[in-house]
Amino acid sequence: ADTAYDFDCLIIGAGPGGYVAAIRAAQLGLKTACVESRETLGGTCLNVGCIPSKALLHASELFEEAEGGHFATWGIDAKATFDLSKMMGEKSNAVGDLTGGIEFLFKKNKVTWLKGLGSFVDAHTVKVGDETFTAKDIVIATGSSVTPLPGVEVDNAGGRIVDSTGALELSEVPEHLVVIGGGVIGLELGSVWRRLGAKVTVVEFLPQILPGMDEEVRKEANKIFKKQGLNWMLGHKVTGAQVKGKKVALTIEKSDGGDEQTLEASHVLVSIGRRPNTEGLALDKAGLQVNNRGQIEIDHEFRTGVEGIWAIGDVVPGPMLAHKAEDEGIAVAENIAGETGIVNHDVIPNVVYTTPEIAGVGLTQEQAIEAAGGDKSKVKIGKFPMMANSRAKANRDTDGFVKVIADAETDRVLGVWMINSLAGTMIAQAAQAMEFGATSEDIAYTCHAHPTHAEAFKEAAMAVQGKPIHM
Ligand code: FAD
Ligand code: NAI
Repeated sequence: ADTAYDFDCLIIGAGPGGYVAAIRAAQLGLKTACVESRETLGGTCLNVGCIPSKALLHASELFEEAEGGHFATWGIDAKATFDLSKMMGEKSNAVGDLTGGIEFLFKKNKVTWLKGLGSFVDAHTVKVGDETFTAKDIVIATGSSVTPLPGVEVDNAGGRIVDSTGALELSEVPEHLVVIGGGVIGLELGSVWRRLGAKVTVVEFLPQILPGMDEEVRKEANKIFKKQGLNWMLGHKVTGAQVKGKKVALTIEKSDGGDEQTLEASHVLVSIGRRPNTEGLALDKAGLQVNNRGQIEIDHEFRTGVEGIWAIGDVVPGPMLAHKAEDEGIAVAENIAGETGIVNHDVIPNVVYTTPEIAGVGLTQEQAIEAAGGDKSKVKIGKFPMMANSRAKANRDTDGFVKVIADAETDRVLGVWMINSLAGTMIAQAAQAMEFGATSEDIAYTCHAHPTHAEAFKEAAMAVQGKPIHM
């Protein structure tokens, strides 16, 4: 350890980016501290994001299957009911197990948790409460929070107009939940409450849900979720919301303007995106500034413009995903320790944990064609429907497809997109194949166990060659 400083490495924020960076830094022999203001470690993801949302997605799916979904298909009559407070309790147990696990890992690896809000005093000094600490290297991993929508004021305690945090702990099933934003949070949490009995209307600014994803996947998702009972108001924006007792009166208009309509809801979820957390950090004292999107710019090694200060996760440009933050956490710690830490940002999988799941990695078909200068003949597509996959057929869950996008000349896989019940798990294989620079032929000639959903990936790769067997 460098005795000129209190710590070799100090990390601000203990989310998936910060806590992973702290553990790896300590593993590499650096005297490490992590500043976190929450009562528990794990950041947005473990406390109010990935984990509680997946717990409720799981519970609500079990209920829906039992209540008349798949159970009925198989002649199983379950007559399900649920106790919302018990469901919420089990969700909290899952969160508690995991956040407690990070605290255990901090102790095991001798990472010092400095509890409180951190702010810069100078480029090597951070204030936490009344104390100041110096460090040779400082990593900013402060994450993100909900983007506010003017005219629609979030009040999680009031429980009527909520953000994702409030929507993860409603004390009753909404009669009519209006979700503002048809992105990932809107679809995941909209699905949770629809399954538990709410009428759900999604108001989305753009003409289609899930911006940024492969066009065909977006269309298929739209169709499937509509069939499940989600109501769409695409190409619309909410201009105001007023709570009146147990109701919320919303004003809505077409995205490009036009007559104002009104919509009544019992609950409103604001999920129009997230923005980086930098307020209160006193970045100026360290000589740092944010870009016009409020993000901290970094280079390929996660260095900011100021010597000794690094940044990772949701606070820097790129997708706001936990696994991206974690990989950056490992890489930044390795760079600080003098090793070579690299993240391949071209191969970051993206998953929506609805039923069916939606997943993608690499370029969408549209991006691949654009990258080829608009020449469609330079991109080959192979698609395989789950309807033709034997395991999906046996399980009676044939919604969706798998699509492989490859370079027409080299056959190298440029992207993989899919929508099916196991897409979130299946996409790992695609990410690994792409990381190894696989061609579609490599995947087509890899033996896949039968009968599995994963065979649909192999067949989609065979379809790139024009030779699928089961279609
Ligand atoms: P965060 O997890 O936001 O952690 C930052 C931490 O820093 C926070 O704990 C905060 O309290 C602390 N902090 C901030 N400022 C200070 C300060 N000045 N001093 C001290 N501490 C500070 N991603 C996925 O990949 N998969 C999912 O399934 C998924 N589901 C999600 C569901 C929801 C409802 C939400 C909201 C997000 C979800 N995400 C998911 C996104 C994921 O949570 C984030 O990408 C991830 O948490 C980012 O990690 P991070 O370490 O950059 O920041
Ligand atoms: P998002 O960016 O996924 O979706 C926001 C949606 O709101 C977009 O479709 C956008 O067009 C729309 N929108 C924006 N302004 C609007 C307005 N005024 N009126 C109506 N619609 C409007 O953001 P979301 O869902 O809030 O999630 C934030 C981030 O959290 C995600 O981008 C993702 O990075 C992360 N996340 C990841 C999950 C996962 O990996 N499974 C789950 C949940 C969140």
